[in-house]
Amino acid sequence: MPDAERVLVIIPAAGSGTRFGGDVPKQFLPLGGKPLVQRVVERFLFDAVVTRVVVPVLDMLLNAVKESPGERVKFVVGGATRLQSVAAGLAAAGDEFDLVAVHDAVRPFFSPDTFHATLDAARTHGAAFPGIPLPDTIHEIRDDAIAATPDRSVFVAAQTPQCFRIEVLRDILTRAAREDANATDEAGLAAKYGHRVQLVPGDSMNFKITRPEDLVMAERIYAEWGGGEEP
Ligand code: C5P
Repeated sequence: MPDAERVLVIIPAAGSGTRFGGDVPKQFLPLGGKPLVQRVVERFLFDAVVTRVVVPVLDMLLNAVKESPGERVKFVVGGATRLQSVAAGLAAAGDEFDLVAVHDAVRPFFSPDTFHATLDAARTHGAAFPGIPLPDTIHEIRDDAIAATPDRSVFVAAQTPQCFRIEVLRDILTRAAREDANATDEAGLAAKYGHRVQLVPGDSMNFKITRPEDLVMAERIYAEWGGGEEP
């Protein structure tokens, strides 16, 4: 990687979703005694490739987190949607970056090798994402019955970090804002707007913590990795 290259990581964490049923948004639930989002931030800070980490959070949480980080981390107020939170993170970070990675706050076990491979692919192609084959057969359902069974070999499940040359991410966020478009991931949005989005092999350990049992599994993995600072 060229010396002068500057890499920004945006971790959108401004959702208020509490699908776990409690009062705490899932990205703030503890893993090994620290909030998930903090685990993720620390893992990126451990990586010398990363210049800056920006974390959009809910307005009401900004004061609570403001004191903690050093100068490589910045917490900012997120937006009303995930895309608006990512846009807020990009705007707060400034222009002096070459590549930007967007990572889910609830994927604490991303691999540095996959991250670096995705950055490399984004540098070459403009945009890239890690994806894994689907383990299960997928059925299209109508009226509670199978209507079709697509060929699963043409699908992947999208993971993060999704990486972009900064001008690509800026382009798709600007267009999405203009059209009031929404998206569950930035890679799909980039493809929708005509950018090539390169697939990089993902990793099944990089799962997303969405259900209570995922957190139980995550705690076990974390304990097994001996503290997990450097799994
Ligand atoms: O709610 P959902 O799972 O779709 O959110 C995906 C991610 O986007 C979460 O990490 C959430 O914190 C983040 N998000 C955000 N700003 C919003 C809504 C969601 O940063 N307004």
